[in-house]
Amino acid sequence: MTPSLEQIQWPVRTERLRLRRLTEQDLEATWSYRKLPEVTQWITAGPHDFETYREQFLESGKIDLDVAVELQTPDGQLRLIGTVMVYIKDAWGQREIVEQTKSVEAELGWSFDPQFAGQGYASEAVLKVMEICFEDLGLRRVVAECFAANKPSVKLMERVGMRREASEKANSLHRSGAWMDSYAYALLADEWSAHRG
Ligand SMILES: CC(C)(COP(=O)(O)OP(=O)(O)OC[C@H]1O[C@@H](n2cnc3c(N)ncnc32)[C@H](O)[C@@H]1OP(=O)(O)O)[C@@H](O)C(=O)NCCC(=O)NCCS
Repeated sequence: MTPSLEQIQWPVRTERLRLRRLTEQDLEATWSYRKLPEVTQWITAGPHDFETYREQFLESGKIDLDVAVELQTPDGQLRLIGTVMVYIKDAWGQREIVEQTKSVEAELGWSFDPQFAGQGYASEAVLKVMEICFEDLGLRRVVAECFAANKPSVKLMERVGMRREASEKANSLHRSGAWMDSYAYALLADEWSAHRG
């Protein structure tokens, strides 16, 4: 069976958070913080208006990649505080055995509401998503990339135990017009098991 987030029994709980699949009903909650310059500056798409955001949010298959991260507020309500993308994809392999490279790794991405920054929520959610990738879906590798200047993301990847595998010079075009450096991080299932063990 091809690994998929559909195989997971949602919601999934962590010590402080509740993780579930993102839905169309999360359009406004995600826009409320994804529109902020401090968030937009580092993420792939930075639409200026809600209508464009809505169109992009509803693009076929896009919602299916995201895990919604919720926190229970003091009044008992669940509040969406961020999302973690899980894009399950093929690895590279030689032609004769290329079948074995199908859907064996996941690229992760994230954006969180800055109101809830600095409390370890993103790390807690990403660690749980990594556990799902390795232990529930049986993936062999998890990867993530970011602009080298995106210090919070770099710290997050290192905090959850990912290894820097590549540092690329001026390879990524930022919407400011600048070609910026980027980093690629990864972790193998064996490394995850060794660390958890
Ligand atoms: C990347 C991003 C998710 C990181 O958010 P964050 O708040 O720094 O990460 P966490 O929620 O894991 O919090 C970690 C911080 O909380 C602190 N912290 C407090 N309590 C903690 C706890 N219980 N567990 C772990 N960390 C804790 C950590 O020490 C750390 O602080 P520091 O940055 O001063 O070292 C956030 O900056 C973001 O959404 N950015 C915009 C979008 C973006 O860049 N996306 C990625 C594109 S590649």
